[in-house]
Amino acid sequence: MEWTRKDLIGLEELKKEEIETILDLASSFKDISSRSVKKVPALRGRTVVNLFFEPSTRTRTSFELAAKRLSADVLSFDVSTSSVSKGETIVDTAKNIEAMKVDCFIVRHSISGAPEIISKNVNASVINAGDGCHEHPTQALLDLFTVREKFGKIEGIKISIIGDILHSRVARSNIWGFKKLGAEVWVCGPPPLIPSEISKMGVNVTYDLDEAISNTDIVYLLRLQRERQKENFLPSLKEYSFIYGIDEKRYKKISKKSYIMHPGPMNRGIEIKSEVVEKDESLILQQVTNGIAVRMAVLYLTIGRKR
Ligand code: CP
Repeated sequence: MEWTRKDLIGLEELKKEEIETILDLASSFKDISSRSVKKVPALRGRTVVNLFFEPSTRTRTSFELAAKRLSADVLSFDVSTSSVSKGETIVDTAKNIEAMKVDCFIVRHSISGAPEIISKNVNASVINAGDGCHEHPTQALLDLFTVREKFGKIEGIKISIIGDILHSRVARSNIWGFKKLGAEVWVCGPPPLIPSEISKMGVNVTYDLDEAISNTDIVYLLRLQRERQKENFLPSLKEYSFIYGIDEKRYKKISKKSYIMHPGPMNRGIEIKSEVVEKDESLILQQVTNGIAVRMAVLYLTIGRKR
């Protein structure tokens, strides 16, 4: 299908066919990263700017490598030493950088909606790299890609997303993506961390971990986002880990072979024990590898052709 979107803000607004177009293109880009020369000229002459107002290891690095493997020029803007610290707004910052003739902004911000605000004020493409508790679309796309690679399909797969659903942009994007592609989605966590309206997204809700992970294909663990928790939602981390953490003993109770996924960064010993991270069934580093191919696809579709 022909790609017409300037921006990628969330999976909520994407059609099933658009998600599949990204995943299919990512499949054809994946082998570039295994070649001795990891570069093709697809985005030669384009300029991509990483505009990260929040810390990141995986997303920022992955976008930078994805852009470079497509031969784009990449600028990683250092917010801490920029005029943002003197009070310049995010829109003025973006407009000033755009005046230097750039093609795409990759935006991460702690406030939900920040990438959309920027996208409405610039002609350049804007790709959401995670905004507040709203969406993290490329994380969900790389998760979909990883599951499709493992099972050959998404339709009919059961995925159980465990943990801090309330604050998780990853959970929201994954729910949109997996539901649109026909998966059975479960969410599970302590009641204060499961928003009451989440069932309207078509997911099954349970507070019982054993119910969530019984007969599941994917156990998707989320990090407890203590930096976003304005109130004290949990009595203690020890209790959370005891009730909702996955260790070897709990993993063995799952009635079928299930794969373990986590978007990172992990809190080892809280939501996931190290022995589970290292299992053959853990897809955590495959997710990271696949992130490059998926982001190459997103960059190519948004800025590869003249709109
Ligand atoms: N998964 C993810 O967004 O990780 P980073 O915060 O390191 O980018």
